[in-house]
Amino acid sequence: MTAERWSSRIGFLLATVGAAVGLGNIWRFSAVVGQNGGGAYLVPYLLAALCCAVPLLVLELAVGRTLRTDVVSAFRAGGPRYAVFGWVVVLSVLLILSYYLVLTGWVLGFLLSYAVDRPTTFATFTAGWAPVGAFLVTTALTGGIVSLGVRDGIERAATVLLPTVFVALAGLAAYATTLAGWDRAVDFLFTPEFAVLADPGLWSAAVGQVFFSLSVGQGIMITYGGYVDDDTDLRRSAVLVTVADIGAALIAGLVIFPVVFTFGLEPALGTELAFRTLPSAFEAMPFGRWVAIAFFGLLFFAALSSAVAMLEVGVTTVATTTRADRPRATVALTAGMAVLGLPSALSYSPVSLSLWDVPVLDLVDGTVGTLALPVSALLLTLTFVYGADLDLVRRELGGLYPVVKYVVPAVLLVVTAATILGVTRPVWRLLTERTARPALALGVVLVLLCLGAVMRRPTR
Ligand code: ALA
Repeated sequence: MTAERWSSRIGFLLATVGAAVGLGNIWRFSAVVGQNGGGAYLVPYLLAALCCAVPLLVLELAVGRTLRTDVVSAFRAGGPRYAVFGWVVVLSVLLILSYYLVLTGWVLGFLLSYAVDRPTTFATFTAGWAPVGAFLVTTALTGGIVSLGVRDGIERAATVLLPTVFVALAGLAAYATTLAGWDRAVDFLFTPEFAVLADPGLWSAAVGQVFFSLSVGQGIMITYGGYVDDDTDLRRSAVLVTVADIGAALIAGLVIFPVVFTFGLEPALGTELAFRTLPSAFEAMPFGRWVAIAFFGLLFFAALSSAVAMLEVGVTTVATTTRADRPRATVALTAGMAVLGLPSALSYSPVSLSLWDVPVLDLVDGTVGTLALPVSALLLTLTFVYGADLDLVRRELGGLYPVVKYVVPAVLLVVTAATILGVTRPVWRLLTERTARPALALGVVLVLLCLGAVMRRPTR
């Protein structure tokens, strides 16, 4: 059982929001929103956040605080046969971290290029070995922070990184209001389109994105929950983290899409948006260099605090399993990450490492990044709600317990099945055209039920 604790409630919140707010809110959110028709996507996104992510956040934090141990040991505490689920979760988060560190390295590369006033382009950057070097530097930096421990490393880093991220985001959003494309961007982001709600692809993308962005189903919240004091209200904390995370994503959208529309860029470009198209806009806009420094700077800080959280999941597991102390476990795992992430780093380098003609990084993001989180979340629910029905966890969940027991697994099963089967959108559209509005009504009822459940006090 770990004796480490956050120094204060605010320290816990900063670290947890720091874990949640990352590339997912800025790079991935804009990409997914752009590809899924803007405001159309927001309804399933918000529903998924409230109905699935908040209850699961509470579940993970409650399991963490109750058991105060690493992820694999927590699953094992649910019953020896569940330990293997714990390893699946840890392996998934490390695989996600392996390419996440590569992307964070790209951000660092772009940041440095603007800082020295020699802006790079994606083609120039990936034509050399800079992506591999930046990946290794980022990996070492992440390991360095984790090796310092919960208070002196993770919490202290979040205290600096997170406020900087929000100040920079707010500053950039204020700047974006002066751009000609502001009104169109607001329309694009906030005009819901109910007809497309019948599209399961949209729902699947929304659930996947919410899980990625909120760091749910990665064992991060089990690990961070282990450092929370006994008096902290976990449900209120989960709501605060969710609001901050969604807020960061929306503000990021209000920074990126005005630029996209002002400079005639293509909103549906997906993952290329941040690295390929935005730099061309930075070049054309007034104060572009400073806007770019603020943008890549905040992106780097946000990504670093999320990478730290993912590495911490692995480090606590390695430390407990091998009985090594934190510094040793961190060095070993950081070296392991440098190896695990290398294929992704090499996929955007002169080597262009690909499998089946797909860059390794895209392959890992498209498979593990998209599918692992709902699957991991399902394993969490199966273990801690159906397998080991821990009394303390049940009391902590209070009114959310039935949501976690029935609603969340049902949604996760459908989403996972839809993703695996790769259900084609046109077929579903044809089948479900008439069900969009009833589905929306059902969604609203579910949100109200979830909100009611969140607000009811625990029975302890
Ligand atoms: N939750 C982290 C992010 O959004 C992984 O980037």
